[in-house]
Order: sequence, then structure tokens, then C-alpha cells
Amino acid sequence: MRTLTRIAELREALAEERKNGRLTALVPTMGFLHEGHLTLIDEARGRCPVVVLSIFVNPLQFGPNEDLARYPRDPEGDAQKAAGRGVDILFAPQANELYRGERSVIVTPLALGEEWEGSVRPGHFAGVLTVVAKLFNIVMPNVAVFGQKDAQQVALVRAMVRDLDFPVEIVVVPTKREADGLAMSSRNAFLDDKSRTRALILSRALGAIELQFRNGEQRVDALEKAGWDVLLGEPEVEVDYLAVLDPDTFRRAQLARNGSVIVVAARVGGTRLIDNQILKTP
Ligand code: PAF
Repeated sequence: MRTLTRIAELREALAEERKNGRLTALVPTMGFLHEGHLTLIDEARGRCPVVVLSIFVNPLQFGPNEDLARYPRDPEGDAQKAAGRGVDILFAPQANELYRGERSVIVTPLALGEEWEGSVRPGHFAGVLTVVAKLFNIVMPNVAVFGQKDAQQVALVRAMVRDLDFPVEIVVVPTKREADGLAMSSRNAFLDDKSRTRALILSRALGAIELQFRNGEQRVDALEKAGWDVLLGEPEVEVDYLAVLDPDTFRRAQLARNGSVIVVAARVGGTRLIDNQILKTP
């Protein structure tokens, strides 16, 4: 595995691969790799002969009061894990390599990015889409692999690729969970034992809604109530939102359908967690 920090050297290495007709898969991450990230790498590995993993804690997607400074980092551990999973190139630029000088252009989402994460974290998705667009232009991957864990992010990246004609196939890998149901996330590292136990309420709420849907309930109000009944059992957890959404618009509809997505976000002991579940007609 080669570790590169400069755009020019990465472009040079990938031009060589392209000349030899080798397809490239990109796995964009912010590092502190866990098993969920490693399944993204496995997916990329299975699809293309060249796998690029980017690790960049993107300042543009953090609000002024968010956890940029304390976002967990482990460059050596990440490099070991990436190499062990067969990554060919680890791209780990510094912020001044990706953001040079004054900024005049960013990629801003429209309605699809307005609600849920978009309203709780203003500017977050513009930061995500801008860095993802930059990575696509730098790496020019044939395939890019993302985790379903960030459901609205995935919907926006797909929309950006469609609307701005990026020549890349987006592949989405299901959320990897701990044995007790907690969705894997780098931010889980912040949870102490009590908060770790409390955090299970998120996946339980999703499970309760899913069960109702499988039992034939389609009314969004009733489904959401089933989730809230679970969430309210843990008063220490501050819920930002829980909603059952149309997967194309990320708006609430009256009735849920096959493919509708339940999204939940909450603060647990000072740590903000998100989770989601796609509803499937039995
Ligand atoms: O999902 C993430 O880790 C980030 O939002 C991404 C896609 C790497 C962009 O910084």
C-alpha cells in the first residue's frame, strides 16, 4: 500500500493505472476506521483492481460548535487496517492540500438536503458534497463506495452524481452493526458504558417501527408513534428527529411503502448519533 498526501502524486499514480486499463474504486472516509469502513473496502476490493481509500477529516462539513477538533483520529492504526484489507493507495491529505486559499465555489444541495441532518447541521451537506466532488475530480474513480449508515448523505451523493453528470457508479453497503444492534460509527468511541447502553434505544426504535410495518401498518404517523414510544423510555437521550421518509425526496408522506427510510438522530451523553433502516415489504 502506498500512502500519498499530495493531489499531484495521486493523480500521477492513478494516470498510470488508467493507462494500463485498470479500474479504480474509491472509498471516501474520515478515518478512525472500524469494521463498517472495512466492509466498504471489501466491497471496493471485490469490484476494481485498484482501491483508493481517502482519509480526510473535512473541516467544511463541521459547524462551528461541532466536534471537528475532537473527532477521533488514529493515522497509524488506520494505515495498518487499510493495508490489511488490501487497499492499494491511501490518500491522506492535509487540509491545506485540499483547500487552498480563498473559496469561491461550493456544491450546495437543494430541497433533498434541507431537512433532518440538513436542518440540524446547517452547511453540513454542502461541506460533504464539496469534498466528495473534489475527491471524484481528483481520483476519477469508476466506482465509489459509501455506507448506508448516512442515509441522507447517500441520497445526496447519488443526486449530485446524477445532476452534475459525474461518471462514477455509486455503490452503497448496508450498515454494519455491533452484536447488540448499535450501528458502527467512529463517534461510538466517545460513548462511556452508560451512554453505550442508552444508545441502543436508537436501533430498538427502528426495530419497533419495522415490526409494525411488517405487521401491515403503513400510516407514517402510527409508525413514528411506535418509534417514539420506545425512545421516550430513555429520557436521557435527546432526540433530534425520528421520521419515516420517502426515499426519493426525504420528505414525510402519509403512507410508508417498500423502500421508505426511517431516520433517527439523537444526542446520547453529549455524543450525536444517527441511524436509519430501510423498510421492506415482507
Ligand atoms: O461519511 C463520511 O465519512 C464523510 O461524510 C465523507 C463522505 C468521507 C465526506 O467527508
